[in-house]
Amino acid sequence: MRAGSLLHDIGVYRLYGASGKLDHTRYLQHGVLGYELLLEEGFPDEIRRFCSCHTGMGISRSDVREQGLPLPVADYMAESGEEKLVMYADKFHSKTTPPTFVSAVSYAAQVRRFGENKVVTFKAMCETFGVPDLAPFTTAYGYALV
Ligand SMILES: [Fe+2]
Repeated sequence: MRAGSLLHDIGVYRLYGASGKLDHTRYLQHGVLGYELLLEEGFPDEIRRFCSCHTGMGISRSDVREQGLPLPVADYMAESGEEKLVMYADKFHSKTTPPTFVSAVSYAAQVRRFGENKVVTFKAMCETFGVPDLAPFTTAYGYALV
């Protein structure tokens, strides 16, 4: 859990160009890029999967095909309890400028654009893992709750 929490977004570093600018147009690929980076560094698959399987509510092979996503056609679905929890916890903050915390209601509304099945999956995870109380974090970090 700790390794997955710390490393799941490491692929974002591969989206920074020589000028130091983040290529937002390829952001969806950061999970796969992180998987590849950790492969090159010799990490085991169970750690690499935290990268490739944390995006949204998971990306299926049919999502890739039907939405024309810029990813190799494959399933990128959280499977283990640890993978699911890292993916779920990741939904409650945003790396926007300034950063924000994201309520369950807001995330459910955001993810709806990727299909009602993603909302159903998110709500099931809310039931499984519980909805976090973000108020202490907004106080501690000074980020807004959206
Ligand atoms: Fe991410």
